[in-house]
Amino acid sequence: MSAMRDYSGPRYKHSSDDPAPYDTITVDKLTPIIGAEIGGIDLAQPLGNQTFEEIHRALAENQVIFFRDQHITDEQHLEFGRKFGKLHIHPAAPHEPGHPELMIIHADKDSPRANGEFWHSDVSCDVEPPMGSILYIRTCPPRGGDTLFASMYAAYEALSDRMKRYVEGLTAIHDGEDQYRGTYANFGIADKPNYPRAEHPVVRTHPVTGRKALYVNRGFTRRIVGVPPDESSAILNFLWNHAENPLFQCRFRWQKNSIAFWDNRCAQHRAMWDYWPHTRSGHRVTVQGDRPV
Ligand code: SIN
Repeated sequence: MSAMRDYSGPRYKHSSDDPAPYDTITVDKLTPIIGAEIGGIDLAQPLGNQTFEEIHRALAENQVIFFRDQHITDEQHLEFGRKFGKLHIHPAAPHEPGHPELMIIHADKDSPRANGEFWHSDVSCDVEPPMGSILYIRTCPPRGGDTLFASMYAAYEALSDRMKRYVEGLTAIHDGEDQYRGTYANFGIADKPNYPRAEHPVVRTHPVTGRKALYVNRGFTRRIVGVPPDESSAILNFLWNHAENPLFQCRFRWQKNSIAFWDNRCAQHRAMWDYWPHTRSGHRVTVQGDRPV
């Protein structure tokens, strides 16, 4: 009789060397797989080249990095984002007047919805989806409002060799229509005739680390190209469920004036709206990315 369970070790065997030391910042990992809190830095001060390089490396090594107790202006927030690339303008979400790159993240007791309550990689429906997003939360509920992040490197690496071979070379359609149409009406935003739609590889290679990451998400991915609809649906459901395994995740507990900077090329996230009737509010600056390959 075959064994009912496989006791051959953890679902994902992750091992990584200790990173090279940092000279200008501290980097405290939340889990061995994803997330790190950055210390010893005041983002209101000009960023030296070495510090910038170290933040960039910390993001590459951890997929999402967090900063506590930062007091920055809108302009400093935008400037920090610009250091990493051209800023992205969201195709649907509200922004501060005169600052299309400063997206408003806000939910209170009267909100019909809150941002990001589903696993996703930001705006993956764009032909060139954002490289990273920098969320600065100024108003926090007394408890709750955490954001969960999941490593898509880990999700890819934990697939069986057979499944890796199956998904290799596949592409999928990502569509903004369902996520964006009518979604921001409470902010007085009228719908556009069309929302972005793009075809991306199911597995992408990160342009900085060279690592492979699973690139399908429940929020935007609609179907796998070139296979029958029932097969596409079964495979996508498997991949979404797999990608959402808590083993690949970290959970960030916000405090007032915290910042999270995540890499959309190798991480997904999901925000928790468990704090009603309280308010959670801040801004997101999003950095443009390249076409996934
Ligand atoms: C988002 O998807 O950008 C929102 C994340 C959050 O509010 O934590």
